[in-house]
Amino acid sequence: MNKVLALGGSIRAKFSNRELILGMASEATDSNRYQELVRKQLLSTSLCNSEILAGAALAGARMCGAEIDYIPLCHLFPRKDRRLSDLQGDDNVISHLDTLDIDEEALGELLDSLGKSQGVVLATPVYFGDRSSVANKFLQLAAVRERVRDKTFGVVSVGAKRNGGQETCNIFSMYEMLHQGTFGVGNGMPTSQYGGTAVGGDLGMVTDDDWGLATTFGTGERVAQVSHIVAAGLEVAVKPKANIVFLLAMDTRDGKLKAHIDSLIAEARETTDGIEFTAINLVEHDIYRCLGCKACPKDGDTRCEHPQCIIRDPDDYLETARTLLAGADGIIVCGINPSDIADLVTRYQVFTERMRSIRRNNYELSNTLFAGLCYHDFGATINPIHSLKVMVSYIRHNTVAHKPIELFEYKGALMDSGAAGVAEFCRAARIVAAGKAQVALPEPVYNAYGEGGGYAGGVDDNQ
Ligand SMILES: Cc1cc2nc3c(=O)[nH]c(=O)nc-3n(C[C@H](O)[C@H](O)[C@H](O)COP(=O)(O)O)c2cc1C
Repeated sequence: MNKVLALGGSIRAKFSNRELILGMASEATDSNRYQELVRKQLLSTSLCNSEILAGAALAGARMCGAEIDYIPLCHLFPRKDRRLSDLQGDDNVISHLDTLDIDEEALGELLDSLGKSQGVVLATPVYFGDRSSVANKFLQLAAVRERVRDKTFGVVSVGAKRNGGQETCNIFSMYEMLHQGTFGVGNGMPTSQYGGTAVGGDLGMVTDDDWGLATTFGTGERVAQVSHIVAAGLEVAVKPKANIVFLLAMDTRDGKLKAHIDSLIAEARETTDGIEFTAINLVEHDIYRCLGCKACPKDGDTRCEHPQCIIRDPDDYLETARTLLAGADGIIVCGINPSDIADLVTRYQVFTERMRSIRRNNYELSNTLFAGLCYHDFGATINPIHSLKVMVSYIRHNTVAHKPIELFEYKGALMDSGAAGVAEFCRAARIVAAGKAQVALPEPVYNAYGEGGGYAGGVDDNQ
């Protein structure tokens, strides 16, 4: 069985609303129906916005066949009534760290539900463009107790205003949770952004935000789909072979990144069974700028008949790279952060924008695992957030994000080769490949804003 747990991060959430939220999530068949149920409920009960979102995400998860549970976090982490100096020993490591305590009984319940869940949705208010303190406390707790490895994780958030930091909030938590071994997902098709992004200030106001509820419902669906794949993949004793592609998007003039990736691949071939490795070095090829063409791709074919279409140009490398990526079970997008900007040769940005045609071709990379890898000169500031940028751009292909691999060179010595990170990625890619062979999902269809599917339609298609 596949189970998805939603965690409510509001300081205004009430534990007594738990059954109510679960009841509405169990009854709703789509985002619109959920909205109707909440509206009716608000006539007699006050609900905070993120607990409404938690229910919307769970309704989506349930529609994908998942069992559901909801736990508000605020009662789990009450304000501490003891002073730090009164605490003895380290029996409760988390409570030493800040001004929140842990309710042991509620903690037991959370750990029990978390242990039985394959997917987790964090539903949090946006506070200063980030998650709440109680939501943060959950991330700390999960890290200390190592409770989320191999779980699928998505975020939904609500702020009082449009562009109030919902995307930054979601991206921060997604990225940090990758480092705890989760499989990261966004809100899935049609928009494939960074989870649920909702607007609402006063209690209950998020109910009027169709877009926020639809992206949240989609996040629940996406978490349930991928947690099903991962759970099925973990069960398969003999995993299928997997193809891993290292996509070198940039390098130094003397090819430092290429040389290191070559050595990593050579080492991985010696130590990893059942994996085929390919390196695509974009630095060696020409990639033209995206034309932002409205018709791209034409009738499901990325090679358009349009006389200006650059994809037909034999000097443009996109189509070759696309074919290699389409056969990948895992893609590691490699970058470098050198000390001297004059040393950097990059194809990263132009390739990323050209991947629009791949996305528009019915999400060709759907459910493919990916991660960033960055080779940093210690302290360099040319490209310090490569892997974060990779997560943000590649999740838009309806993919699955994995923990990035960060390498640091200090005074000429590389502190970690990245071999362990590559091995971890290979393991995850084989789990996803095995799971995909077991779980039938609907064929992905590109539909800019999902007209007719609960999203606001009639908007410009040129994205
Ligand atoms: C401390 C604090 C910080 C906030 N920061 C933001 C913010 O950065 N952006 C925003 O849009 N709303 C911000 N808000 C508004 C809340 O995100 C918004 O009211 C939300 O609906 C609260 O969720 P809840 O009803 O689940 O408690 C903030 C609210 C508080 C209390």
